[in-house]
Amino acid sequence: MKEDLKRIIEAAEQQILNAKSLPELLNLKSSFLGKKSELSQLMLKLRDLTPEERPAFGKAINDAKGVLDNLITEKQESLKSAEIDRQHKGSSVDLTMPGRRFNKGSLHPLTLIWREIEDVFISLGFEVAEGTDIEDEFHNFDALNTPQDHPSRNLADTFYVENSQLLRTHTSPVQIRTMERYVPPIRIISPGRAYRNDKIDATHSPVFHQVEALYVDENVSFADLKDTLNQFVVKMFGAGTKSRIRPHFFPFTEPSAEIDISCVACGGKGCRVCKESGWLEMGGAGMVDPNVFKHTGIDSEKYTGFAFGLGMDRIAMLKYDIKDIRVLFDNDLRVLKQFRNENR
Ligand code: PHE
Repeated sequence: MKEDLKRIIEAAEQQILNAKSLPELLNLKSSFLGKKSELSQLMLKLRDLTPEERPAFGKAINDAKGVLDNLITEKQESLKSAEIDRQHKGSSVDLTMPGRRFNKGSLHPLTLIWREIEDVFISLGFEVAEGTDIEDEFHNFDALNTPQDHPSRNLADTFYVENSQLLRTHTSPVQIRTMERYVPPIRIISPGRAYRNDKIDATHSPVFHQVEALYVDENVSFADLKDTLNQFVVKMFGAGTKSRIRPHFFPFTEPSAEIDISCVACGGKGCRVCKESGWLEMGGAGMVDPNVFKHTGIDSEKYTGFAFGLGMDRIAMLKYDIKDIRVLFDNDLRVLKQFRNENR
């Protein structure tokens, strides 16, 4: 019987290893391990053995079954993967081909600056207010205390739409709309587009961007204005950046000032960027004129406020070393691609 067992196993191993297909293998499985297989028949013959011989031989048969079963499982796997390989060879899919490159988009430099400015002011306790690009004369000029004969109202400077509507010439009308709707304390910024009938050159564009700020409460002072500006420029351009104000005139603020920051290229020593002055112009500022409060129904005896407007294109150009404002509006992919890694 031992001889039988050996012969059965050797024959089975040979046939299993030589099997050419899955159906063939399944047939072999049932003929070697099924109820009618020789191994199962051998089991029946255990009866003919002595009780001493039985356990060892029974175990030998079971071990043989285990060995064959493993062999069949292994062969099954290798036949399956050979089948898959064969299918792929016959199809047009080339698994060795490199993947298709996909392009990662990028945010526009102005969008990056826009978000950064909002983050800085939000961290200082301001909220973001939105206005509209098309305004009326009242909000763009009248309520901002701008006289009827002020040159900025001129057709040569302002784009009029129709019925005394116009493309806002600054973001300051958002001051008026905010004060019309809310009572102090008011602390808002408003970034957005503005339009002026300017000739296009490296530093002028008929459409540009400003960020307006307005803070109205009891006892708001010029010192608050300076402090807010200082904190903003340090957060935006880094420690050591200074701001300064120079006397100026705006109809809607009194006193009014122009804002400069220390040159971010040379740190204030004087270079080509700042035309050797050490300072860069950033925008206008001042204390809200009582006449402006009057137009919006805020009590100028009780409240004071400051406002300022900064050029966002200017900030983006300085921050990203862009020399020509037109670059911001051309949407040249070669430029935009350089901002891929700046995305937030
Ligand atoms: N609106 C002014 C401008 O466009 C800037 C400004 C805003 C000045 C707020 C004072 C206060 O030049």
